[in-house]
Amino acid sequence: MRNLNCYAVVVPGLEGIAADELRELAAHDVQMGDGGIAFTTTMDGLFRINLRSRCITRVMVRLASSKALTFPELYHQVRKIGWQGYLAEDVCIEAKASCHRSKLLHSGRAEQAVLDGIAASDNVSVKESGEIVQQVMLRIDDNTCTVSIDTSGERLDRRGYRKFSGLAPVRETIAASVLRWMQWAPDQPLLAPMCGSGTFAIEAALIAGKKAPGLKHDFPFVRWPSLKQKRWQRAQDKVESMNSDIRPQIFASDLAAGLLDQAQENAKLAGVFECIDFAQLDARQLIIPEGVDKTGLIVCNPPYGDRVKGDVTSLYKQLGKQFKQHFQGWKVAVIVPDRDCEKALGLSVKKRLKVKHGGKWVNVISV
Ligand SMILES: C[S@@+](CC[C@H](N)C(=O)[O-])C[C@H]1O[C@@H](n2cnc3c(N)ncnc32)[C@H](O)[C@@H]1O
Repeated sequence: MRNLNCYAVVVPGLEGIAADELRELAAHDVQMGDGGIAFTTTMDGLFRINLRSRCITRVMVRLASSKALTFPELYHQVRKIGWQGYLAEDVCIEAKASCHRSKLLHSGRAEQAVLDGIAASDNVSVKESGEIVQQVMLRIDDNTCTVSIDTSGERLDRRGYRKFSGLAPVRETIAASVLRWMQWAPDQPLLAPMCGSGTFAIEAALIAGKKAPGLKHDFPFVRWPSLKQKRWQRAQDKVESMNSDIRPQIFASDLAAGLLDQAQENAKLAGVFECIDFAQLDARQLIIPEGVDKTGLIVCNPPYGDRVKGDVTSLYKQLGKQFKQHFQGWKVAVIVPDRDCEKALGLSVKKRLKVKHGGKWVNVISV
């Protein structure tokens, strides 16, 4: 099967974790960059990655890459790409360009050259507007124009279960990546105090159940005329057959009753409500739940004090004390917004992960 040159977009900071996941799934020749990972795979690999990756935001396939110094040159290069394999009749194209250190710096004109080139290519009829959108990305860097087609559609972190969320929810991909980074396994108890919309607990339950996050996702490649339907069906059947009915010990809690209700609704939508024990609880009084007889992982995203108001350093201090006193031998991962909160926690940091969350860099610390 033909090898595809692909590029996965990831939340900045998650590159290393996502690259490992991609390698496990189907990626070769993996090369990490800032906020993205280049790799090669087959079409079957691409199906698997889109269906099963928990850590990446989207995947694109690179269709062509060459120098262009004028818009007509760019137009001709785009026109030569075999678009008939990718574009169905009812699809409308959205072109997105980013231009850096090049002669062609006007992204609007570059996007128009892409649209014109596609419209003029053989055996393709493009709709001006419509509901079904296929994104085509152009990146111009040092005068090299790389044209890619999107394979993921809606961002992959939008799993579809989070209809309700409180303040500062972590992206599903960040939650899944932190669990991976902490090497959490479903046979370990997981405590998610301050769970907000329940993202950590729900992602853990999905991991334990080996539920493919992309199974209900609407992927644009299902409309590609070149798609081999049988292979796609086989890929979906395979991931569905992997489902496991293992019952992990996952406990989610929050002080706010309203948020806890929302987390439970989200868990229902994700199909994992039965796998999580929910409780209204002050994290400062967190203790090992009844029935838990081995050490596990605590993972939490406490309030930051900016988006979520209040005096947070004293909260971090009390949390640190509680963890130290009641959770000997447990692994603990905390998202901290700044050094003051980290210091207030008062626990020694074993490793740290810097990640962009809500437009700002935060540290996830393992203590
Ligand atoms: C930043 S949000 C967590 C967001 C969550 N990770 C998500 O993805 O939705 C902080 C959460 O801590 C909760 N919280 C604040 N103080 C608390 C306390 N003392 N005990 C338990 N929960 C608390 C808030 O109700 C809020 O849901």
